[in-house]
Amino acid sequence: MRRYVIAGNWKMNNTPDATRAFAEALAPKIAGKDGCDVVLCVPFVDIAAAVEATRGTRIRVGAQNVHYEPKGAYTGEISAEMLLAVGAEYVIIGHSERRTYFGETDATVNLRTKAALAAGLKVILCVGEVKEQRLSGITDEVVRMQIKLDLAGVTAEEMKNVIIAYEPVWAIGTGLTATPEQADETCGVIRRVLGELYGAEIAGATVIQYGGSMNEKNAADLLGKENVDGGLIGGASLKPDAFAVIVEAANA
Ligand code: 13P
Repeated sequence: MRRYVIAGNWKMNNTPDATRAFAEALAPKIAGKDGCDVVLCVPFVDIAAAVEATRGTRIRVGAQNVHYEPKGAYTGEISAEMLLAVGAEYVIIGHSERRTYFGETDATVNLRTKAALAAGLKVILCVGEVKEQRLSGITDEVVRMQIKLDLAGVTAEEMKNVIIAYEPVWAIGTGLTATPEQADETCGVIRRVLGELYGAEIAGATVIQYGGSMNEKNAADLLGKENVDGGLIGGASLKPDAFAVIVEAANA
């Protein structure tokens, strides 16, 4: 009953020209593979080019952050209304790079999530433990707390537009991947918290992605796990061939 969602997080990569070239290369490679949703979360300045270049394809476009106020004196920030106006449908919120390098907290992640949902964006909410937390055996507690704090005030109705991305921080950009069993286990923990918060039906319907060095070689094993409903892919989403193989794996 859950549909796989394969999303690329380009991070700070690609110009509008490179975005158009990427979309033209990717679209034919994934044509007809309709068994999953495909999203490209691109830098703000690439959104318009991505929307234009993917028109008529099944590729959807997202941003990588959004501010929680609708407008005002927030130099350098972008509102949900602005994202929608240029054709973005999704937004990543709470990525560990924003939490680590840009002072993002569960409180600001929560504000952004509520504002994005209220405006009509689909949210890809990122949670995950750092290496020391996994080694200390507190992964479950960490993700439970993040989910509860980040989703505080989000309604059951709004959960239709929420995807959770479980991204163990130690696996991001490191070439280290959680084993399929680890990914399944922690995605399962997340689903149980969602059950406590919203009930079994919503927990069962929510897409939970794995992210962290997912690539064309390990995607099929990770996606084969019961609680893993897709991927949030960094490095491998910059290569049309590799990304297409991951989309293919989600169709199998
Ligand atoms: P990598 O796939 O490069 O490890 O990045 C994962 C990620 O952070 C996706 O949001």
